[in-house]
Order: sequence, then C-alpha cells, then structure tokens
Amino acid sequence: MSVELLAAADDAAQSAYAPYSNFLVGAAARARDGRLFTGVNVENAAYPLGICAERCCVGAAATAGLKPGGLEEIAITASPCGGCRQWLAEWRFDRVTYRRGNGEVVTVTPADLLPDSFVL
Ligand code: THU
Repeated sequence: MSVELLAAADDAAQSAYAPYSNFLVGAAARARDGRLFTGVNVENAAYPLGICAERCCVGAAATAGLKPGGLEEIAITASPCGGCRQWLAEWRFDRVTYRRGNGEVVTVTPADLLPDSFVL
C-alpha cells in the first residue's frame, strides 16, 4: 500500500515548482475514506516563502474539508523537514513513508519523527 502511495508521490513530484533548489519533492496522502491528495514543493524568489510538498498536500486535503485525524497515511519522496514533522504530528497520520537520501524507503509514525511534539 505504501509502495503505491510513494509511486503517486513520485508522479506528483514531476509537477513541483523548484527552480531555485532544483530539488523536486512530491507527497501523496490517503484519507480514511480512500480519497487521495497530492502536493508538491512550490518555491518562491523570496526563498522563505516557499512551501514544502507535505504541507501543500495537507493543504489540499484541508481545502476538501478534511481535519486532523482524517488522513491515514502519507508518502513523501524525501525525508520530511523539521517543520513538516510538526505538521505530520498535528494531522495525526497513522503512518509516514518516505525515501531517505540514500534511497532507502522507510515507514514510521509521526512520533518516531518528532518525539514530544508541541501540543497547544
Ligand atoms: N522540501 C519539501 O518539499 N519537503 C521537505 O520536507 C523537505 C524540503 C523542499 C523545500 C524546498 O523547495 C526544497 O525541498 C529544498 O529544500
């Protein structure tokens, strides 16, 4: 299952807008009701304004009305950055699959990625 989701993330990555880093990232999330959402990194000439693929993906799900807990799993073509780990925790994914820099694919939980995450 995660393999299919990672394939969807790889497909999505082709649409990434990353002219500054040339590092294309894709993410694909499956909702508990089966819906699929994808996202890509979208960079900006004002560098800090760029958005990561995972956040773009979660934003697509939120736009469709989903709330934290409504997404079962996500696959990302790269290791999630620190900020995105906080997002993955907030959205309470059961599983996160990603490809490490060395090509290894792993499936972990948000808590594995960010122990003791901030909760308001
Ligand atoms: N990037 C992501 O899309 N997700 C991550 O979790 C890591 C970093 C993007 C941001 C930027 O467009 C590019 O990768 C290089 O940092």
